[in-house]
Amino acid sequence: MKIVFVIFFCSFLQTCISNDTIMRRQSLRDGEVILSEGERFAFGFFSLGVSNLRYVGIWYAQISEQTVVWVANRDRPINDTSGLIKFSGRGNLCVYASVNRTEPLWSTNVSDSISQPTLVARLSNTGNLVLLDTLTGRGYWESFDHPTDTFLPFMKLGFTRKGGLDRVLTSWRSPNDPGSGNRTLRMDRRGFPELILHKGTIQWWRTGPWTGLRWSGVPEMNRGYIFNNSFVNNQDEVSFTYGVTDASVITRLLVNERGTIQRFTWIARDNRWNEFWSVPKEECDYYAHCGVNGFCDPISSETFECTCLPGFEPKITRHWFLRDYTGGCSRKNQTSLCREKDGFVKLTHAKIPDTENASVDMNLTLKECRQRCLGNCSCVGYASAYHDGVGGERGCLTWHGDMLDTRTYLNSGQDFYIRVDKEELARWDSNGSSRKTRVVLVLISLSAAVMLLMVIVFCFVRKRRKLNSLRRSSTTFSMVSFDFEDSLKFEDDRELPLFDLHTIAAATDNFSSHNKLGAGGFGPVYKVGK
Ligand SMILES: *[C@@H]1O[C@H](CO)[C@@H](O)[C@H](O)[C@H]1NC(C)=O
Ligand SMILES: *[C@@H]1O[C@H](CO)[C@@H](O)[C@H](O)[C@H]1NC(C)=O
Ligand SMILES: *[C@@H]1O[C@H](CO)[C@@H](O)[C@H](O)[C@H]1NC(C)=O
Ligand SMILES: *[C@@H]1O[C@H](CO)[C@@H](O)[C@H](O)[C@H]1NC(C)=O
Ligand SMILES: *[C@@H]1O[C@H](CO)[C@@H](O)[C@H](O)[C@H]1NC(C)=O
Ligand SMILES: *[C@@H]1O[C@H](CO)[C@@H](O)[C@H](O)[C@H]1NC(C)=O
Ligand SMILES: *[C@@H]1O[C@H](CO)[C@@H](O)[C@H](O)[C@H]1NC(C)=O
Ligand SMILES: *[C@@H]1O[C@H](CO)[C@@H](O)[C@H](O)[C@H]1NC(C)=O
Ligand SMILES: *[C@@H]1O[C@H](CO)[C@@H](O)[C@H](O)[C@H]1NC(C)=O
Ligand SMILES: *[C@@H]1O[C@H](CO)[C@@H](O)[C@H](O)[C@H]1NC(C)=O
Repeated sequence: MKIVFVIFFCSFLQTCISNDTIMRRQSLRDGEVILSEGERFAFGFFSLGVSNLRYVGIWYAQISEQTVVWVANRDRPINDTSGLIKFSGRGNLCVYASVNRTEPLWSTNVSDSISQPTLVARLSNTGNLVLLDTLTGRGYWESFDHPTDTFLPFMKLGFTRKGGLDRVLTSWRSPNDPGSGNRTLRMDRRGFPELILHKGTIQWWRTGPWTGLRWSGVPEMNRGYIFNNSFVNNQDEVSFTYGVTDASVITRLLVNERGTIQRFTWIARDNRWNEFWSVPKEECDYYAHCGVNGFCDPISSETFECTCLPGFEPKITRHWFLRDYTGGCSRKNQTSLCREKDGFVKLTHAKIPDTENASVDMNLTLKECRQRCLGNCSCVGYASAYHDGVGGERGCLTWHGDMLDTRTYLNSGQDFYIRVDKEELARWDSNGSSRKTRVVLVLISLSAAVMLLMVIVFCFVRKRRKLNSLRRSSTTFSMVSFDFEDSLKFEDDRELPLFDLHTIAAATDNFSSHNKLGAGGFGPVYKVGK
């Protein structure tokens, strides 16, 4: 296998260092490639499309389709093949162009000078280029800490609380230009952490907060059994990472230049990447699609996907009914909260609102959470902050201002409790009971209909029997009692009466639309006579 890969990737190159390491005194010229130990990834120079610009980066070595997962000099390509990768005197790995071998185009930028002669750059089989001292094993820098647009298994997204590291995905500019685009996916530093996709400075989509087993806004993670996800939020860092339980699965997640997050898995049989998941994909996914205090329900999308949360009404009704939801909703009665007995209306299967300004206490139970919210007049809603996946809930998230970007799902999602005043609570309670009344009414009319049907069938059967006995007496029988009944005659022993076309045309006023009653499974139905 090894030989095959080496031949495959080195045949058209001048040299191929079949090695995963660049030593401190070595350099890598354009055309040379290093391969990770398992030969899953390669590191070296590459071009994209028909362009002659040369970039340094990491790509899949075993995949026939060029798939770059990391780029070093993404904003400063080399315009010829004179590029060189080598260590600077201070121990940084640098990319140089021939025009200036003293000023690098790109550098690992480790601030401390590294003097160890045993310093190397090594490409790991997870696709991580690591600067480390082989003697002590100390790492100085790794490409996983400086992702471009691709989130590989075992990478981390998020920030460290000290040290200022922030691992952000930044899209390419276009499929053939790996330069820094303006779509980013980053861990929000404000409030309770969530990943936010930005389009320039605009929030475009968010994962929702981590709720124990998955992101609140990624219900598909329930089914992602081949991925083991883990989220860390402690004094040192806030980060998200995932692994693949089946090591033979090749998968990557990326932010593309249009602002879509896509996960692909490699289908070796067909030699292609298969889109496993992508987001945003429906109206309700777009950040704050229904404005402040509205929520998005994709199931009701034949009418309006946006509804105001309980206790709220559209700020500008006219805009709302023109399906312009940007104005959002405001409280029906500005002064009624926190006066008399408030209560909560439960929104089930929800993606909870943006947690940027939410408060969190992981030590409370859901019941205590409710009490805390009731006891604080600025609290407008609450939800549990952590699910263990088997019904256990703990932690308390409370909202204290406008609620933004709430939506519901068909089956997944969590419970979100919205504070309402006494009047609104009564309305929702009566809504509940009126729904019950409606159900009873439907049941009554259904059984009435069934009884009516039975009566009709009974009458029909009786008539049929009578008819048969008449037929047996072999008389010509006219069935209908219209003015032209004479022309409508049975032929003996026919199951169905047959009429010729003229007769029917005359009877239905030449199939006039005035005579059309409707259409059924067997065709249109006409009434006879004018
Ligand atoms: C990689 O290269 C270094 C130096 O050239 C050499 O010492 C080492 O044995 C090589 N490793 C492999 C696996 O070829
Ligand atoms: C390549 O870019 C350098 C500047 O980085 C410029 O001086 C040089 O003329 C360019 N060469 C070509 C062939 O475009
Ligand atoms: C290379 O860059 C350095 C630092 O900017 C500068 O001093 C030097 O003159 C440059 N050399 C060439 C050949 O451009
Ligand atoms: C390295 O530092 C220089 C100067 O601070 C900066 O312009 C450059 O973008 C940095 N490069 C990387 C790869 O972080
Ligand atoms: C993002 O970049 C694209 C081109 O790369 C540009 O057309 C677009 O206007 C930019 N969007 C924002 C929000 O900056
Ligand atoms: C995921 O599971 C694999 C195999 O069980 C394990 O090697 C890996 O460390 C796990 N990764 C994470 C992020 O939990
Ligand atoms: C708003 O609520 C207050 C207190 O419950 C009540 O007195 C007032 O009549 C309400 N206003 C409207 C417009 O319903
Ligand atoms: C959080 O509060 C700030 C300051 O009041 C406000 O500008 C921002 O819109 C709020 N964010 C959300 C998601 O409500
Ligand atoms: C939450 O509980 C833990 C242990 O039960 C305790 O160490 C911590 O101080 C508590 N935090 C708060 C905010 O009460
Ligand atoms: C209500 O909650 C907010 C946000 O957590 C907090 O700032 C405020 O002090 C609380 N008010 C009371 C009376 O507890």
